[in-house]
Amino acid sequence: IMSPVDYAKKVAAIKAIDEYIKDNYIIGVGSGSTIVYAVERLAQRVKDEKLHVVCVPTSYQARQLIVNHKLQLGDLDIYPKLDCAIDGADEVDANMTLIKGGGGCLTQEKIVASCAKQFIVIGDESKESQKLGEKYKKGIPIEVIPMAYCPVQQKVEALFGGSAELRMAKMKAGPLVSDNGNFILDWKFPDSQFDWASVNTTIKMIPGVVETGLFVNMASKVYYGMADGSVREHK
Ligand code: A5P
Repeated sequence: IMSPVDYAKKVAAIKAIDEYIKDNYIIGVGSGSTIVYAVERLAQRVKDEKLHVVCVPTSYQARQLIVNHKLQLGDLDIYPKLDCAIDGADEVDANMTLIKGGGGCLTQEKIVASCAKQFIVIGDESKESQKLGEKYKKGIPIEVIPMAYCPVQQKVEALFGGSAELRMAKMKAGPLVSDNGNFILDWKFPDSQFDWASVNTTIKMIPGVVETGLFVNMASKVYYGMADGSVREHK
């Protein structure tokens, strides 16, 4: 038995796979809980329709999902151009600006999405907001080189206010280490009118910043699943 939120994630995932995936596609596979349903559906379609697709992961989690579902694993060395990438998000605003990286996988997710012709975002309807920060309360993730985390924290706070907190690991003592061996700051930003494109650019220019979880002008489409099994689309 599945919770209403999980069911909503699943219907959005199914819609995205069924609408976008075609034979011979090179596909970016996102991370998180929603993408699990997309990979399940993709594996089912590959089997039923004998599709040939290659999957490029955005994390160790995605890599394991691909391998466990016996899908063909690829990487950007061999496939630097993807037909589409599918991923979840932590929040999506009215302009389809995303916060991503609640699971710590923002950097590879952004790289893979940036290589895709189409970037399809899936989530339950609770992800949709008018203004960033309305729904996702943990702040904007920023991946940083470990020895730079204090200066980056101070610079982000001095530039834009709020507080940039070092994300701690759950099952071990100390900071969370990303798939890339880095730390993550969660920037709780103040409630004001930000130009997210320029915030993203400014933060990325701080030495020690690897990537931000702000995805501006990247999403081609967002599918929001609902508990009644219907799917709404953004753009
Ligand atoms: C991973 O770092 C995130 O960017 C995920 O893509 C995002 O958190 C969505 O995850 P869920 O599908 O679990 O909400």
